[in-house]
Amino acid sequence: MDPSQVKIPPMKDLTVDNITENVIRINSLCEDARMKYVLERLVTHLHDFVRETRLSSDEWMTGLRFLTEVGQICTDVRQEFILLSDVLGLSILVDSIDHPKPAGSTDGTVLGPFHTHDAEEMRAGDAMSHDPSGEPLLVVCSLRDMHGRPIDNVKIDIWETDSSGHYDVQYPGREGPDGRCIMRSDRDGIFWFKAITPVPYPIPHDGPVGKLLKKLHRHPYRPSHMHFMFEKEGYDHLITALYLRNDPYETSDAVFGVKDSLTVDIGKAGPDIAQKYSVPEGHALLTYDFVLVSDAETSELRAKNSKIALDKLGRKVQIVNGLPVPELD
Ligand SMILES: [Fe+2]
Repeated sequence: MDPSQVKIPPMKDLTVDNITENVIRINSLCEDARMKYVLERLVTHLHDFVRETRLSSDEWMTGLRFLTEVGQICTDVRQEFILLSDVLGLSILVDSIDHPKPAGSTDGTVLGPFHTHDAEEMRAGDAMSHDPSGEPLLVVCSLRDMHGRPIDNVKIDIWETDSSGHYDVQYPGREGPDGRCIMRSDRDGIFWFKAITPVPYPIPHDGPVGKLLKKLHRHPYRPSHMHFMFEKEGYDHLITALYLRNDPYETSDAVFGVKDSLTVDIGKAGPDIAQKYSVPEGHALLTYDFVLVSDAETSELRAKNSKIALDKLGRKVQIVNGLPVPELD
């Protein structure tokens, strides 16, 4: 409908009970059906939140000040908003809905605030970490599709902390990337590299998100893990991580990222592996078989899940560009 033709009734004397429908009505001039739907639901939930909690003006201002601080501490290498989203369980929720995983595929998990775009492309067998205090770790992984076929030439972003639990971007004098690299899978879908055994670390807690955790009596630690991000045209972008089993924070990750399917044991290289990858026998070894899902498989599952979820809420929707919008009568 042409927005200029929409008749917006006069809005005045709005009350606790009718403010929501009026805000939604004026927002409905938006021509983008998806944006209109998202805004409608956002306003509805925000207003209901205020009505339910009977939010005071002081609390409202405290919230605004907090969000202001979150924004002010952000820099090119510090993303406090992602951190806030992570500790509220929002990041893992969005990932689970937007990147649903059929049985047999590799689960996704939180991106976290420490991915950068400047990692160097390395060749198979290269070392991504140069921390002499880290325990050397050989990582050998395979990459297949849902039908068990190897996937070659996938761009794989990998990043981890140093042995003290800090990412390179947390050092003020950072001159370039370390503890991160980009690899490509070979024609058998294999990629392998040298890293260090991950260690647990606290998320940055010297800012507003850290203060919030403290107030909630929550610790800021993440269990030992290594991040992976997979990209290839035709496949759903996979952001995931591998977690070490029996880590002290395995069941209390500050950002809710741990999944059983992503939890691994560090093994030891036997004679064959040691010879094949030129490491001493007994060298720490991490292996994992990743399974990627095609874009088409993901879109189908996402649409199916959306229909089921919104049907339960009694909302009639149609799927447009892979995302739900209200069905027109
Ligand atoms: Fe991390």
